[in-house]
Amino acid sequence: MKKEDFRLSANSATYEKSSPQTIRALFASIAKDYDQANDFASLGRHRVWNQKLIDSISPAQHLLDLCAGTGEIALGFLKTHPQSCATLVDFCPEMLHVAQHKGQKFAQRMRTICADAMELPFPKQTFDAVTLAYGIRNVAQPQTCLQEVFRVLQPQGTFSILELTRPSFAPLGWMHKLYTYTCLPLFGRYISNNASAYRYLAKSVQKFVAPQELCEMLSQCGFERIRTQSFLFGTATLITCKKPYLSQPSC
Ligand SMILES: C[S@@+](CC[C@H](N)C(=O)[O-])C[C@H]1O[C@@H](n2cnc3c(N)ncnc32)[C@H](O)[C@@H]1O
Repeated sequence: MKKEDFRLSANSATYEKSSPQTIRALFASIAKDYDQANDFASLGRHRVWNQKLIDSISPAQHLLDLCAGTGEIALGFLKTHPQSCATLVDFCPEMLHVAQHKGQKFAQRMRTICADAMELPFPKQTFDAVTLAYGIRNVAQPQTCLQEVFRVLQPQGTFSILELTRPSFAPLGWMHKLYTYTCLPLFGRYISNNASAYRYLAKSVQKFVAPQELCEMLSQCGFERIRTQSFLFGTATLITCKKPYLSQPSC
């Protein structure tokens, strides 16, 4: 789908139920400017949150970074852990190309795989840690994705989710809504001449389930030791959990 086609579907009545193809086209259209836009939109705060996510990963030999995008999380992990390797999965090849380009010096320790986070092409218990940053709200069926993570994670492995969320204190929630619906599309227009993509991203933040609900989904999948940490009045939330040593998936 071309950028122009994405603009049409993002503005249509079916906007709420964007298909995986539409989401993929959205990220393809902003891939080259994605990192710069993030710096603008979060005023650099996302770098601190990303580091918290990286710090939450238990010593891991092999990390799976889902919805890896331009590789910010996986590359940060490889920098901090010189003995480890990482597999980056995303269904948007344009985003993965940026990651490959940025990660040239880690080429021996990283691989990129174009696949859907709801259908992972790996045998069970392949990885000892999984990360998923700013991606779960875009996945069509989050529960299916969480089940897949449970399957490919080794017992005792850690799973860390970082997601943009909404402040629960109402006045802050209104300000946050105003900011996401007005400033994000403006940044999008300024940086990548694509306001509609950022309008979609703003809507996805406002409409996605609250962290508590995500924690319940994780618990239903069999994860344990589920912890949350919220940043900047709840505008981002880190959820960490573990796969039990002896585990039976319950979903
Ligand atoms: C907001 S970006 C996050 C990128 C990166 N994790 C980061 O920290 O900047 C979301 C990414 O999720 C990917 N994505 C969305 N749904 C997906 C799915 N079902 N399977 C694989 N990747 C998906 C998109 O292509 C996009 O690159």
